[in-house]
Amino acid sequence: MKKKPSTIAIDGPAASGKSTIAEKLARELGYLFFDTGVMYRAVTLAALRRLGTVEDETAVSQLAAEVDIDITPPSKEDGRKYDVLLDGEDVTWEIRSREVEASVSQVSAYPGVRKAMTDQQRRIGLRGHCVMVGRDIGTVVLPEADLKIYLVASPEERARRRHQENLQRGLASDYSAILQAMIRRDQIDSTRQVAPLKPAEDAHIIDTDGLSIEEVLGRVRSLLEDCARAETDLNG
Ligand code: DC
Repeated sequence: MKKKPSTIAIDGPAASGKSTIAEKLARELGYLFFDTGVMYRAVTLAALRRLGTVEDETAVSQLAAEVDIDITPPSKEDGRKYDVLLDGEDVTWEIRSREVEASVSQVSAYPGVRKAMTDQQRRIGLRGHCVMVGRDIGTVVLPEADLKIYLVASPEERARRRHQENLQRGLASDYSAILQAMIRRDQIDSTRQVAPLKPAEDAHIIDTDGLSIEEVLGRVRSLLEDCARAETDLNG
């Protein structure tokens, strides 16, 4: 019998389509969809609220080890894919604010924060039946994942997608500001010392520029099939 991959890692830069693809895939497979970026966003929000700034690396790292972050099924029908709870409080939309957006790269570059988050993510991923999304899932969090996918798209295409998302949610949006922020965030994410944004050596890279969601999903489905077939060949 064909055996579907149980742990699927999807990495890539901001707005490369990771969450959209992963959510649909997880639903098709009946797997957990776990968007690890929300954990870094929740720590950033906690730091901004409690410390007023994210500059103090020691204090932010300590906070990361203390706060309780939970991701649960959506409690409201307002476009959310899940609830994000910070010490029990619903912060699903607050973690998408401009303030959090501006500081999350700095927070996620702190090794102490990464350690606290990675340990929790790995524990969840190792249970299997999980599509996990982030920047370092295939390289650090779950290097043994059954299938690793790395999505890319040009900064312009990604900024355009974010801009559209904002408009659809009725938010004010400035394309050039988004593009600038995107380029800056890519730079920080890919040059940080710990777990920089990069594809794992055995990741399948999909360039999503000019592809529809359905087309990207089609490619992912065929990678899943290949993976299941390889497993069957190995085990007879
Ligand atoms: O995917 P996102 O935009 O919600 O991610 C928010 C930030 O968290 C982003 O700057 C990169 C960081 N991140 C990370 O360093 N490692 C992950 N596994 C996921 C996100």
